[in-house]
Amino acid sequence: MDFKHKGRLPWLSHFIYSLKYRGLMNTCSMGLKEWKKERELGIDTFGAHCPTELSIEATSKLGGHLYQPSSSVIFEKAMNALPFNFSDKVFLDIGSGKGRALILAAEAGFSKVIGIEYASELNDVAYTNIETVKDRFPNTEFDLREGDALQFDIPAEVDVIYLFNPFDEEAVSGLMKKVKPAFDRSKPIYLIYVNPVHYAVLQKQLGEPFVTLRNLKGFPEAKLFSNRAKA
Ligand SMILES: C[S@@+](CC[C@H](N)C(=O)[O-])C[C@H]1O[C@@H](n2cnc3c(N)ncnc32)[C@H](O)[C@@H]1O
Repeated sequence: MDFKHKGRLPWLSHFIYSLKYRGLMNTCSMGLKEWKKERELGIDTFGAHCPTELSIEATSKLGGHLYQPSSSVIFEKAMNALPFNFSDKVFLDIGSGKGRALILAAEAGFSKVIGIEYASELNDVAYTNIETVKDRFPNTEFDLREGDALQFDIPAEVDVIYLFNPFDEEAVSGLMKKVKPAFDRSKPIYLIYVNPVHYAVLQKQLGEPFVTLRNLKGFPEAKLFSNRAKA
């Protein structure tokens, strides 16, 4: 499911999707963990918002998927698959929404986290969430940008690019024009693609993923690419 199709109750489609691919017990246990994580951090990133209900200037709006927050469970698994300590590393979230992945990256210890999001309402919520947590993470610099990720040049300082299924296949292809030059640099760089529905586009441009994270039913939850680690 690419979450492009919104319906009237997007959270319900997501719940049904999760039941199908994760089963009832896993869906409930993950939901509970996410709820506890929000409480622990004092943030509010829940919700499901379609591009049509948000103020978005970018022409790529049509290719954009629904907003929903990253799962902290999958995020942690992806972090554990990276071969370094994050204290001198920079994290970039493409389509940063309400800031959940940025805050989880700060919690993981990244020295800087950058988010690019085109919906101003989501960015406003992300600012509030970051204000709430920033004193807990004094060693992390937060840098939130508003704009179209497809027009955003990947800063040279970035070590980890994170995508939680932000857009459709055409937009993923467009993003590759920005990602490929970063992968062609000599500096090691990693890309995490969660809910990797269009991973074939990345595979063609970046090579085989070095890890595929799967859920208990064997479905891929994330694919990790790098210009260093080979599959
Ligand atoms: C599935 S949500 C992920 C949110 C966040 N990364 C997280 O993990 O919690 C995808 C996000 O990408 C944003 N998005 C989609 N297309 C975009 C684009 N072209 N430029 C910037 N943001 C975009 C959506 O508005 C949405 O907030």
